[in-house]
Amino acid sequence: MKVIVCENAAAVGRVSADLVAADIKAKEGKYVLGLATGSTPLPLYGELIARHRAGELCFANVTSFNLDEYYPIAPNHDQSYYYFMWLNLFAHINICLRRTNVLNGLATDPKAECKAYEKRIKAEGGIDLQVLGIGGNGHIAFNEPGSGPKSRTRVVKLDEKTRKDNSRFFNNKIEDVPTHALSMGIGTIFEARKNILLATGGYKGEAIVSSVLEPPTPKVPASLLQDHPDVAFLIDTDCAKAFLAKTNDGKKLPKGVTLEIVQ
Ligand code: GLP
Repeated sequence: MKVIVCENAAAVGRVSADLVAADIKAKEGKYVLGLATGSTPLPLYGELIARHRAGELCFANVTSFNLDEYYPIAPNHDQSYYYFMWLNLFAHINICLRRTNVLNGLATDPKAECKAYEKRIKAEGGIDLQVLGIGGNGHIAFNEPGSGPKSRTRVVKLDEKTRKDNSRFFNNKIEDVPTHALSMGIGTIFEARKNILLATGGYKGEAIVSSVLEPPTPKVPASLLQDHPDVAFLIDTDCAKAFLAKTNDGKKLPKGVTLEIVQ
């Protein structure tokens, strides 16, 4: 596992865009990109859009799969992850909309929807690179604490903490935040060839400490990524404070963890 500390959120966006762009360019033919929502990946999406507009990056061969979606929620609801992706990325790049996959928040049979999603990922040859954020409680996608390493795409009940954290997007009304979601599982995420997890701000500091420095446990879902063969955590200096304090500025890192500071 690589931990890459960048100066600020904009730098996390630039460095993660470098990784995504290089991976897309390195692969001939079709490319499968896993996408995340939330405020953290916005600088990354801004960079990808800018590079596309500058003629440096083409999405014509890209198929995307999003990590999760609230349930129930209409795709045209302004807080649906489908709407988020369209607004913040898909509308501004040359990705073919038919090749963008977001779980259907109005599926009449949500279990069947999740099964079909897994099948679609497999049919596309698996995910080349998955972008991840992290929740304050260590969740990835909507895999709340307790989610096992073998979990697959499924219906999940949201933690009260997550609903409270996300109520800021619902006019601070927790009762308007859906109680459930459809989410790729940890096992699904683990099968991506590369994973990059982005985290910015001091609020995520403790979640990064327990995900990187403590033994992997389903209590902190992001910690289960420690066993992934190609995973990088890109964090900004605010988020890195707690981590750097615990590791004595990187001198006491667990085996298998490397630290890079990007100036
Ligand atoms: C939601 C999403 C996660 C995301 C998290 C953090 O719960 N399901 O995929 O990582 O929010 O969001 P933010 O980046 O806004 O802090």
